[in-house]
Amino acid sequence: MIEKIQRIREEIEALKVSKSEDLEAIRIKYLSKKGEISQLFNDFRSVAADQKREVGKQLNELKERAVEKLNELKSEFEDTHSDEQNIDLTRTAYPIPMGSRHPLSLVKNEICDIFGRLGFSIAEGPEIEDDWHVFSALNFAEDHPARDMQDTFFIQRSPDILLRTHTSSVQTRTMEHAQPPIRIICPGRVYRNEAISYRAHCFFHQVEALYVDKNVSFADLKQALLYFAKEMFGSETQIRLRPSYFPFTEPSAEMDISCNICGGKGCAFCKHTGWVEILGCGMVDPNVLDACGIDSKVYSGYALGMGIERITNLKYKVKDLRMFSENDVRFLEKFESAH
Ligand code: DAH
Repeated sequence: MIEKIQRIREEIEALKVSKSEDLEAIRIKYLSKKGEISQLFNDFRSVAADQKREVGKQLNELKERAVEKLNELKSEFEDTHSDEQNIDLTRTAYPIPMGSRHPLSLVKNEICDIFGRLGFSIAEGPEIEDDWHVFSALNFAEDHPARDMQDTFFIQRSPDILLRTHTSSVQTRTMEHAQPPIRIICPGRVYRNEAISYRAHCFFHQVEALYVDKNVSFADLKQALLYFAKEMFGSETQIRLRPSYFPFTEPSAEMDISCNICGGKGCAFCKHTGWVEILGCGMVDPNVLDACGIDSKVYSGYALGMGIERITNLKYKVKDLRMFSENDVRFLEKFESAH
């Protein structure tokens, strides 16, 4: 009996597994009800009484060792055959979806690129602003009805703090700290207290451009606008300037482009006029230059501002501007191939 125990013990110590079925086979061979060790326990009954103590001890140790060995083999097998160990570095990677740029970012980048080619560099400012930079320095007199053109979100505790209603505030911030020549393009988000519908939202995006130097004229503005319109909407595009009013420019104008859907012949989109409005512009009012510490007797400048949503609608024919902020992937992935 002792010899048998010894032999099984040696066998167990030498065990190795190469496949997971081996583990189960070992359990059955030694530890199952009819296994070799259980068999020894049966035989134990016929062991002579004076040897029972010694044989019993060895038999128990054998069983304990067998269970322990089986567990060792199991964890060894799992370690060497886990997925981590089995990584095939030569396999092709899982397809990782690339995503796409948001249409507003595409258009913003394009506008900045076009003005970049004219020598404009990007300037940014805060979205939480004060009255001075958004209105007063831009020649909006206090209590002037022009302030109502932009329905503003104020902070209740301080009417001096507000969410900027236009990116024109970046003009004032830049001019306060720099002397001409200044040539900046300012993209950013703006806020207005508008009811949300397919054509209005309480936040949207604008791009502002400002050029201040000696002898800047309306002709310079018009040339820059024409260049921009042709680059953005195609070389056939024509522009038209209509007189308008903004407190911070004098004279002021609104710019239309020839309808890029019907080519100017007239269609439902342009309400049969052949023209669609895209931006506001004008010569910087001398009061604005002076308020920002730039001598209006020496320098002049032009400025313009446009809504990025509007340009995107024209370019990509998006009818409902709420789609820009709904994060619907079916809409966003349509822009995968656009750059
Ligand atoms: N800030 C104007 C708006 O939000 C847009 C604008 C018009 C900007 C004329 C300008 C400009 O710089 O010259 O409606």
